[in-house]
Amino acid sequence: MEAKEVTLKIDGKDVKATEGASILEVARKVGIEIPTLCYSSALEPFGSCRVCSVEITDARGRKKVVTSCNYPVKEGLEVSTKSEKVLKTRKLLLELLLARCPKVKKIQDLAREYGVEKPRFWIEDVEEDCILCGLCTRVCGERIGVYAINFANRGVEREVTAPYHSFSDDCIGCGACAIVCPTNSRRIQVNTYPTLPEDIENIEQKFLKGTKDENFGVYSDVFAAKSSVDGQDGGVATALLVSGMQRGLFDSAIVVQRTEGYNSEAVIAENVDNIMKAKGTKYLRVKMMSKLGELIDKGKKKIAVVGTACEVRAARKIQKILLKEFPDVEITIIGLFCFEAFDYEKLKKETKKLLGVDLDKAEKTQIHKGQYIVQIDGKEYACKVKELNDAIEKGCAYCDDFTAKLADISVGSVGSPDGYSTVIVRSDVGKRLLEKLDLAKEDANTEEVTKLSIFKKKRATKNFAPILQDMQIQTEPQTEQC
Ligand SMILES: Cc1cc2nc3c(=O)[nH]c(=O)nc-3n(C[C@H](O)[C@H](O)[C@H](O)COP(=O)(O)OP(=O)(O)OC[C@H]3O[C@@H](n4cnc5c(N)ncnc54)[C@H](O)[C@@H]3O)c2cc1C
Ligand code: SF4
Ligand code: SF4
Ligand code: FES
Repeated sequence: MEAKEVTLKIDGKDVKATEGASILEVARKVGIEIPTLCYSSALEPFGSCRVCSVEITDARGRKKVVTSCNYPVKEGLEVSTKSEKVLKTRKLLLELLLARCPKVKKIQDLAREYGVEKPRFWIEDVEEDCILCGLCTRVCGERIGVYAINFANRGVEREVTAPYHSFSDDCIGCGACAIVCPTNSRRIQVNTYPTLPEDIENIEQKFLKGTKDENFGVYSDVFAAKSSVDGQDGGVATALLVSGMQRGLFDSAIVVQRTEGYNSEAVIAENVDNIMKAKGTKYLRVKMMSKLGELIDKGKKKIAVVGTACEVRAARKIQKILLKEFPDVEITIIGLFCFEAFDYEKLKKETKKLLGVDLDKAEKTQIHKGQYIVQIDGKEYACKVKELNDAIEKGCAYCDDFTAKLADISVGSVGSPDGYSTVIVRSDVGKRLLEKLDLAKEDANTEEVTKLSIFKKKRATKNFAPILQDMQIQTEPQTEQC
């Protein structure tokens, strides 16, 4: 059915609009600005801040104040965005918001526009910087599909947090929550890992060493290598872990092991046998960071983590925080190239549908030159990776890092001959890990790696565009320094 056109008046101006569009959308289209704090055109309206309040008069002449971001336009509606009642309502709301977040610049500025310099109300915590607008929780769930953060508690205790107030296992560090947050709140940095360009630069300076390339990240060496381990490709990831543990560079490693069938989970390996058991790629997004929390709680000081870019981002952010409290904690990070990961249940279903086989019986799975290959009883079953679109983790479409740029050393299959892994060395820790390791080496095809890195970045940029459309990355600190 074709959308109906309606005529309404906004601030005395006749406006034509599609029935059902919000007053805010329509007003903005005709150049009438209405302040908002909890609205993003990329997300479902939430109606929590109410600073977008306007006064409407309906066809029967009844007047009321409504939130414009979620109130649909109708034929004959009259809207006033600046009536005395509207200005009074916004002023009161801003006074309340300023009482909640007295140091947040955005709130201070907006309040000042409405004549509020100081709130009349009692201030509970002068450091509070979250206005509970829910933009972060909604972008994480609705867009990224991750649901790493949510609201907890009620009333004055209400807060945005990761489940159980501990390191989030779900956050992929995409940064969307930080991008949309109108106050640049510290709350979304607690136990989650939004990684913005400035975080990346900071991590690179602190932990990495080498030349910086836009697609490769910081690196000092890149080559193709094969170890004596019969791993996924050249067995390099496992060989690095085994050698590092034998040389005492770490005593625990967080690796990913198959549990039931193909389903997999992160486990703590404290000996070579357990590292060996984890060899081989499981093309799933596996939750890992709570294991890091577990090791820290146990008092472990030398830890290795192997994971895809999202896990690497998380591990680095945790490492940065931990270093303040435990300066002697050493974390060695082995990154894996990753274009996308799959959801176990969905991948199993698609494998059955497309290849007619049970994924749980796979001896090995491989993604190679656009093909998804499942090996069962020595026989290979294959289809195009593209056909698995329905099984891809939604958040991967927002991830722009193919080579795990923040790792100490990254390993992948693209760019190497069969049976070899491409290795990118990014830090002294990575270099040290390679010492005394006997690897057969070849030149890597860096063009192939670059091509996929660019492709992945373009995909993320395209998907982020609607989120960024009416938001600005908060580069300036929003909270005034004491
Ligand atoms: C989800 C995923 C997608 C990938 N996509 C690509 C790609 O598009 N292009 C590319 O070149 N390479 C990709 N890789 C990397 C590649 O498959 C190999 O892991 C890499 O080349 C290392 O091979 P290896 O023989 O050295 O590893 P191995 O020596 O076999 O060791 C593999 C290590 O990976 C760990 N691991 C296995 N599955 C996971 C997981 N799901 N999450 C975290 N750690 C895990 C294991 O704990 C083990 O330590 C991907 C890896 C993963 C996990
Ligand atoms: S960084 Fe991304 S995944 Fe993590 S909490 Fe923020 S929006 Fe969610
Ligand atoms: S694409 Fe790979 S690295 Fe990025 S979020 Fe998905 S699993 Fe993590
Ligand atoms: S922007 Fe409309 S209620 Fe917040």
